[in-house]
Amino acid sequence: MLRFKENVSLKPYNTFGIEAKTKYFYKVSNTIELKKILETNKNIPLRILGGGSNVLFTEDFDGLTLLIANKGKAVLEETSKTVIVEVQAGENWHEFVMWCLNNNYGGIENLALIPGRVGATPIQNIGAYGVELNSVFKWCKAINIATLKEEVIFKKDCEFNYRTSIFKARQKGKYIITSVCFQLQKPPHYPNIEYDALKEYFEGKSPKIDEIASAVIEIRESKLPNPKILGNCGSFFKNPLVSKSHYKLLKESFSELPSYPIISDEQIKISAAWLIDHLGFKGTQHGGAGVHKNQALVLVNLNAAKGKEVLDLAQKIQSAVKKTFNITLETEVNIL
Ligand code: EPU
Repeated sequence: MLRFKENVSLKPYNTFGIEAKTKYFYKVSNTIELKKILETNKNIPLRILGGGSNVLFTEDFDGLTLLIANKGKAVLEETSKTVIVEVQAGENWHEFVMWCLNNNYGGIENLALIPGRVGATPIQNIGAYGVELNSVFKWCKAINIATLKEEVIFKKDCEFNYRTSIFKARQKGKYIITSVCFQLQKPPHYPNIEYDALKEYFEGKSPKIDEIASAVIEIRESKLPNPKILGNCGSFFKNPLVSKSHYKLLKESFSELPSYPIISDEQIKISAAWLIDHLGFKGTQHGGAGVHKNQALVLVNLNAAKGKEVLDLAQKIQSAVKKTFNITLETEVNIL
């Protein structure tokens, strides 16, 4: 019989460092255990937690929180050019990136230092410095909560897009990802240094994958607060997509507004950090919560912030952005 812990504080399990309690708590080490729990607890509200690096708890949870902690990596296939690796959902993402570099496997070096666990990475199609997870993703295994069957879900069915996937949108809450399979490159690699910050860093040089990872780590550390020191969840909002005509109007009034490389003919992705910064929020404090002094897109826990205080601040920012720019900022972080 599996025994749940009761009335557990979730503070150690979210990178914001927010205090909230869950009625029941269980650390899941393997799929068999996970299936058994799902089978025998169908009437208890369920919440799945990985690294807790993309959630904001705003209240206590009267249900069962499952911490996904299954471990292991296996090389499934290898050719002269590529390697296919299956990684269990509970593995730490950054440690996996480092493992790839040690083995000289390319493809995810730009995604170094992203907090969280491997199982969460497809949910919001993590991305940074010009690379998104979907560029190396092959398939994932996930338990369908309704049928309790483990399914293999291939890339073409994941509906990946900027910071979203089927697991965050259409099928939200329906699956628990148990492992992820990646296709990585053996040398020669095809490094991506198109992102402005990397282009500037390397000034025309052709870096190796471990040099790219070191640069990404250095840039991230200079801008983004370390969650172990200052609670945060990285970018709190997504960069908004606006229509071409809206973008033109904005540029007439705000000529410095940065945009990103074009992703479609109709829409342009613009910098949410710039919008928030322009409105003067950067470095400000609101109760225990605040806006990071080096990156306006990052909300931080300055002083024992309550989840509701962070949410209030987020809503204040959203209203101000709506009022001045007529843009609705969507949160990247899951608000629970
Ligand atoms: N900017 C400002 N003020 C700021 C910060 C940035 O005006 O306080 C402007 C600057 O012009 C800068 C531009 O915004 O050139 C872009 O800034 P940055 O390179 O830091 O990227 P971002 O768009 O703000 C995104 C991701 C980050 C990722 C970086 C690097 C989203 C929501 N965020 O941020 O991802 O690390 O690019 O690729 O797409 C995360 O998802 O948690 C995350 C940190």
